[in-house]
Amino acid sequence: GLPERVTVYEVGPRDGLQNESAVVPVEVKAEFVARLAAAGHRVIEATSFVHPKWVPQLADAAELLTSMERAPGVRYPVLVPNERGLDRALEHGVTEIAIFGSATETFAAKNLNRTLDSQFEMFAPVVSRALEHGLKVRAYVSMCFGDPWEGPTPVAQVVEVGRRLLDLGCYELSLGDTIGVGTPGHVTALIEAFGGPEKLAVHFHDTYGQALANTLAALRAGVTVVDASTGGIGGCPYAESATGNLATEDLVWMLHGLGVETGLDLNTLVETSTWLAARLGRPSPSRVVQALS
Ligand code: HMG
Ligand code: MG
Repeated sequence: GLPERVTVYEVGPRDGLQNESAVVPVEVKAEFVARLAAAGHRVIEATSFVHPKWVPQLADAAELLTSMERAPGVRYPVLVPNERGLDRALEHGVTEIAIFGSATETFAAKNLNRTLDSQFEMFAPVVSRALEHGLKVRAYVSMCFGDPWEGPTPVAQVVEVGRRLLDLGCYELSLGDTIGVGTPGHVTALIEAFGGPEKLAVHFHDTYGQALANTLAALRAGVTVVDASTGGIGGCPYAESATGNLATEDLVWMLHGLGVETGLDLNTLVETSTWLAARLGRPSPSRVVQALS
């Protein structure tokens, strides 16, 4: 069976914009976030408090949080890797954060400047302090299916890293296919290896055109939270061959076609993507956006 309702966890302002070469003014970001809320989104990952030299596209995180409007009932999590990031987030009234671990050694080095094992030493005080402040903490685990340097990631290794992240006190674990190499059978096997869908979300990139098929496999396995990015923009600057996320519009087309509720208005989403594409100076890679605009 399929879930009656799915929460679409929108990552466009963060995962989408972190990899765009165009500099997006903070006013445009604030309008983008507001448009997403108007389309019915209830979770919008707004930005990252990472090192500004590592991700210059999101160096304006503080300004964005100061200037953007917050709609009632909408959650605005931000990415935080370390205690410095948490301090910055707390200064700006953030109530939800997401830490982001790596399932592989090479990506831990490239994305976090840490070893696989020492990433937990960086995250542990972030999560404990965040929980003390009453924040909700999500965890990502990247490279769950394969890694550009190490090849396919062993399922047991993903489960071990994922469990350690959840055990820190995170309410949810988002399984990231950072370079989009996963296929549906692998998705089913991974969720089974976790012992079922409890606390799991999925985060697919569409590099090999598998993101929707993988999503359907995850829904059939009982997952009800799916990450997606407006118009399919995005990727990770520290992962070779990471291209766009699963497009929110493509996801919503499939979910509504299946009779799964999302609370989202597809026309408003498409208008938002078209509006954003004009600001980014390139068309949206989403097939649904192309078909409907
Ligand atoms: P590091 O160089 O090891 O940091 O970077 P450090 O702790 O040694 O500190 C060095 C200097 O940076 C210090 O300043 C710190 O204060 C400063 P100094 O004393 O030299 O003047 N610093 C900071 N400044 C502002 N904000 C901070 C911060 N931290 C340190 N938070 C670090 C380690 C983790 C910070 C760095 O590696 C980093 O920022 N990495 C982030 C990379 C990133 O954002 N990648 C993209 C997101 S992950 C992703 O996209 C995947 C995902 O979508 C899921 C999927 O698809 O798989 C989530
Ligand atoms: Mg991602």
